[in-house]
Amino acid sequence: MDVGNLYSLKRGDEQMDEARFILQQMGDQGYDAIAMGAKDLALPDSCKQLLLDEAPGTWIGTNLKPEDRGSVIQPHLIQKVDGVKVGLFSWIDPAYNFNRVDSAKVLDNLVETARELRPKVDVLVLLAHTSNRGVEDVMESVPEVDFVLLGGNASPMMKEKLAGQTLIGNAGDRGRHVAWFDIELDRNKQMVKREYGVMKLDHDFPRRPDVAQAMLEFSDMLTEKKADKIEKERLAKLDRLGINPFSLPGHDSPLSYVGDNECRACHTDVYSAYKATPHARAFSNLIRERESNNEEKLPKYTTGYLEKTGFLNRIHTPRLMNVQCESCHGRGSEHVRTEGKALETLRPDPENSCVACHTQDFDPDFDLEEGLKHVHNMADIRLDGAASRTSSSPLQKHLPKDVRSGKGK
Ligand code: HEC
Ligand code: HEC
Ligand code: HEC
Repeated sequence: MDVGNLYSLKRGDEQMDEARFILQQMGDQGYDAIAMGAKDLALPDSCKQLLLDEAPGTWIGTNLKPEDRGSVIQPHLIQKVDGVKVGLFSWIDPAYNFNRVDSAKVLDNLVETARELRPKVDVLVLLAHTSNRGVEDVMESVPEVDFVLLGGNASPMMKEKLAGQTLIGNAGDRGRHVAWFDIELDRNKQMVKREYGVMKLDHDFPRRPDVAQAMLEFSDMLTEKKADKIEKERLAKLDRLGINPFSLPGHDSPLSYVGDNECRACHTDVYSAYKATPHARAFSNLIRERESNNEEKLPKYTTGYLEKTGFLNRIHTPRLMNVQCESCHGRGSEHVRTEGKALETLRPDPENSCVACHTQDFDPDFDLEEGLKHVHNMADIRLDGAASRTSSSPLQKHLPKDVRSGKGK
C-alpha cells in the first residue's frame, strides 16, 4: 500500500485524516516496514516528526543520508517471517527532485545495500518510489532483488512484470490500492510459488473484511466532517448576507439534498429525459455569462440555494448545480435511503416550486399548465412554448436560435 507522500504542506485537515488512516491501517495489517515518498523527505521537521511518530512500522530509507534518516529511519530491515528471513530496503528515484538526496550517491547506496543484504536473507524485497519505467532502468543494477513493490505512480499495475528474475508490482498512489506478493518456500528455502495481486482498497475488500469495515467507517467519518464544514461555511455566508437561516425553507427538516446522480440508477428513463432539459444545463449558462456568483440568480439556477444541505458554491457542493430533481421534488435523502419506499417525503405539490423560480420578473410568459405537461422532457415545449414568447423573457436568450424564432427541427 503506497503511503503517498502523506503529509504535505498544501494539504488540509481532510488529507491529514487520510494520512493518519493509512498509517493506522498499515499498523492494523501488521506492516513491518514503510518507505517514504520523495515529498515526505522535503517536509519541515515538525511534519516529518509527526509522520515518524505515528508510523506503525519501521521507516526504511536506503538512499537517505544518515543525517536525514534521524533516529527512526533505518537504512534497511531484516524481518523473520515463519522462519524465513526477509530483507527489506527502499529506494526513492532521485529523478523526483523534491528532496535533498545526493543523487550521485543514490545508486551506489542501492547497489551496496542489495549486495550486503542478499547473502543474509532468503527473500529480498525492494520498496521503490519511482515510475514504472524508472524501475526497469535500475533493475539492471540490482538483479539480486526478488521482488520490487512500487508506489507513487498514479495507477497501479494490474499484472506483474518480470525483469530478469525480479518480479515487479505497483500499488499505485495514496493508499487507494493494496498490492501484494503471495510467496511460498520449500524446506530448502527455494521459492516454489510467487503470485502477485492488486486490489482497490475500499469497503468491498474481500481479502480482509476487517479492513473493509474500517474503510466504511472512515468514509462515513469523512462525509460527516465535510458536511459539518460546509454547514459552517453556509452559516457564515448567510451571516455575511444578513439572512436569517431560520427564514429559509426546510431549516428544520431532518432530510437532506442528495443530488440527481443518486436518482439515476432507479429512475433511468426520467433521468435521461431530464438531462436533455434546460433545467439540467442551467448552471452552464450562468458560467458562460459570468454570472455564477450573482446572488440573485443563484437561487434559480441551483438546487436548494443556501438552504441546509443545499447548494452553497461550486467548490463545496458541485453536485447541486442546476435545477435538479430535488428542486421540484424536494429533499431526496429519505426516499433514497429507503430505496424508493418513502414517497411522502417528496414535495407533494411541485407546482408551487415552479412559480417560486418562474416569477413574473424572471419569466413573464411562463405557462405553468403547459410547462407541467413536459416537465421531464422539454424537447416539444421548447418549440411550441418558446415560439410564442416575447423577447422580454430573460429566458429567451438561453434557448437555441431556431427555437427562439419558432423555426427549426
Ligand atoms: C433505490 C431506488 C430509488 C432511488 C435511488 C430513487 N427512487 Fe424514486 N422511486 C423509487 C420507487 C421504487 C418508486 C415507487 C415506484 C414508482 O412509481 O416508480 C419511486 C417513486 C418516485 C417518485 C414518484 C412519487 C409518487 O408519489 O409517485 C418520485 C417523484 C421519485 N421517485 C423521485 C426520486 C428522486 C428525485 C430521486 C433522487 C433524489 C429518487 N427518486 C431516487 C425508487 C428510487
Ligand atoms: C422542473 C421540475 C422537475 C424536475 C427538475 C424533475 N421533476 Fe419529476 N416531476 C415533476 C412534476 C411536476 C411531476 C408530476 C407530478 C404530478 O403529476 O403530481 C413529476 C413526476 C415525477 C415522477 C412520477 C411520474 C413519472 O413521470 O414517472 C417521478 C418518478 C419523477 N418525477 C422523478 C424525477 C427525477 C428522478 C428527476 C431528476 C432526474 C425529476 N423528476 C426532475 C417535476 C420535476
Ligand atoms: C430552482 C428554480 C426553478 C424551478 C423550481 C423550476 N424552474 Fe424551470 N427553469 C429554471 C431556469 C433557471 C430555467 C432556464 C434554464 C436556462 O438557463 O436555459 C428554466 C427553464 C424552464 C423552461 C424552459 C424555458 C421556458 O421557460 O420555456 C421551462 C418550460 C420550465 N423551466 C418549466 C418549469 C416548470 C414547469 C417547473 C415546475 C415543475 C419549473 N420550471 C421549475 C428554473 C427553475
